[in-house]
Amino acid sequence: MNIRANARQAAALTASAILAIGITGCAKEDTGGTTETGVALVKSGVLTTCTHLPYAPFQAKDASGKVVGFDVALIDLVAAKLNVKQEIVDTPFEGIKSGADLNSGKCDVAAAGMTITDERKQVLDFSEPYFDATQALAVVTGKKVATLEELAGKRLGVQGGTTGEEYINATVKEKGLKIEVVSYRDLAALQQALATNQVEAAVNDLPVWNEYIKANPGKVEVAAGFDTGEQYGFAVKKGNAKLLEAVNQAITAARGDGTYDKIYAEWIGEKPAS
Ligand code: ARG
Repeated sequence: MNIRANARQAAALTASAILAIGITGCAKEDTGGTTETGVALVKSGVLTTCTHLPYAPFQAKDASGKVVGFDVALIDLVAAKLNVKQEIVDTPFEGIKSGADLNSGKCDVAAAGMTITDERKQVLDFSEPYFDATQALAVVTGKKVATLEELAGKRLGVQGGTTGEEYINATVKEKGLKIEVVSYRDLAALQQALATNQVEAAVNDLPVWNEYIKANPGKVEVAAGFDTGEQYGFAVKKGNAKLLEAVNQAITAARGDGTYDKIYAEWIGEKPAS
């Protein structure tokens, strides 16, 4: 090879090296953005929401695979306020309630029918409460169970990491009940276990049982309620005051102008008299 050919090759190499740098530069990971109103987002142009599917009527895939529900509709209002679109990330509840997902920048906001608790307040900043809930015991229709005591020697299903699981574990311990508590990784697995008689009964938030009964009439019924007086909140990373303010403003505005009631009627049903 002569000197000229070498020089040409070197030039070509340099050119491709520059091109490569250029390409990597473009493909660089999105390091976020800031909305016109000064709210920092993990991904520019979108409000990224962490949730744990399925949890109808708060968040679940519709027939077309789109995630929809009460929480989705409310967070859409926040996104609209920020002039961005909502993007939903499905991820295990543990990472949501522990604050890990928000801390690592997986998402901006958590919306997962998540109950506000003192423990979670240590690691998350919660919005104003946006929904009241209680726990309920569901059984296959016709099964005669009205109390936890009647489940002695039987299996009781709960959803892992939830307040329902905590409530059951605490009550079983406190009352010294001989119940085998079985924990399922998500709501679908819990409902499947109940429907196929793997468990005698199952505990979860009342509105999700009501929704299940609506979708599968006659299969299961609510046998008992436990008035745990829970309230749901959306959550942001600790210290993310700007986004929290936007979330709270969207909730307040929706409550004030009838949008909240409309969304409630659409996803939950008739509002209880208050
Ligand atoms: N409200 C309950 C809790 O905070 C259950 C929430 C489960 N949500 C979900 N999207 N999987 O523990």
